[in-house]
Amino acid sequence: MTDDRWDADPDLGPVVVSEKALAERVAELGTELTADYEGRPPLLVGVLKGAFVFMSDLARAIRQPVEIDVMAVASYGSATTTSGVVRIVKDLDSDLTDRHVLVVEDIVDSGLTLSYIRRNLLARQPASVEICALLVKEGRQRARIDLKYVGFHIPPDFVVGYGLDVAERYRNVPDVRVYRGPVPVD
Ligand code: IMP
Ligand code: MG
Repeated sequence: MTDDRWDADPDLGPVVVSEKALAERVAELGTELTADYEGRPPLLVGVLKGAFVFMSDLARAIRQPVEIDVMAVASYGSATTTSGVVRIVKDLDSDLTDRHVLVVEDIVDSGLTLSYIRRNLLARQPASVEICALLVKEGRQRARIDLKYVGFHIPPDFVVGYGLDVAERYRNVPDVRVYRGPVPVD
């Protein structure tokens, strides 16, 4: 699908995952989750801000009752890499005791963010914690994490769109695209 506005942006490179491929894969994940969580409504925990687009689509692709909560984390480090030191900036509203928690994450790079989040959530006595990550960068994981649901494995380029940003830009781009502009300093 052509998308003149974003095609013309010199800071954006090729489409890595198209809008159409995203929609198809999210529908498949929804079908799988609908079956897996039958009779035990999950609490979807979106990791802000990047997961907001994915979670919105995924929640509607699950044909079962779900509850939604969000948390925000900040990782110390530069704008395009993670240090692994993670801090909760906004915590969940929900009590996780005996809940089936499904963490919804936009992208896994080193895996350090998710590994911290999982450990943190497991300490709250949930019935289960699983992870649904839209994108996983190939060959980059430094922490071993069990990713039960994955949308796409992608090459390790920095990408934006479908919720993903660089310095808060490009979250509303409908495809996932390579970012090749200047790296902002934070
Ligand atoms: P990790 O802790 O190294 O796995 O980094 C995960 C977090 O870094 C994600 O939740 C994103 O917020 C951010 N991130 C990693 N790679 C990218 C990217 O290519 N584009 C935008 N954000 C990214
Ligand atoms: Mg981010």
